[in-house]
Amino acid sequence: MYSEKVMDHFQNPRNVGEIENASGVGTVGNAKCGDIMRMYLDIDDNGIIRDVKFKTFGCGAAVATSSMATELVKGKSIQEALQVTNKAVMEALDGLPPVKVHCSLLAEEAIHAALWDYAQKNSIKIEGLSKPKSDIHEGEEDESEEY
Ligand code: FES
Repeated sequence: MYSEKVMDHFQNPRNVGEIENASGVGTVGNAKCGDIMRMYLDIDDNGIIRDVKFKTFGCGAAVATSSMATELVKGKSIQEALQVTNKAVMEALDGLPPVKVHCSLLAEEAIHAALWDYAQKNSIKIEGLSKPKSDIHEGEEDESEEY
């Protein structure tokens, strides 16, 4: 069963759409289910995430987790945004059924991919950010796994 917060974010997702001339755009796919997520970040000169939008061909859990993730990174610094893990997002949503945990990885990876794109465009290095995967494969839910 889904929590009320998951249902709320699924039915009224926040920050859906795209940002023209975004500072960074990240797209990731989930090989397990074929779902796709794209995240747009607008980052100001001080490295603060002014705006964030997402689009997805994804399931309800992917929509809800992305919606919550965008709320959590909006107005934050890049370093703070990196702390927004899928676990943090799931906690903020009062949990997800175990079979849906992999869906929450799309949001986290898409944010990382968008930050990576931003870093590439500006020739900077973001401390603690390694090259994101473009696909989330089965068995990679374990967040202790290095990539
Ligand atoms: Fe694909 Fe949820 S089933 S992201």
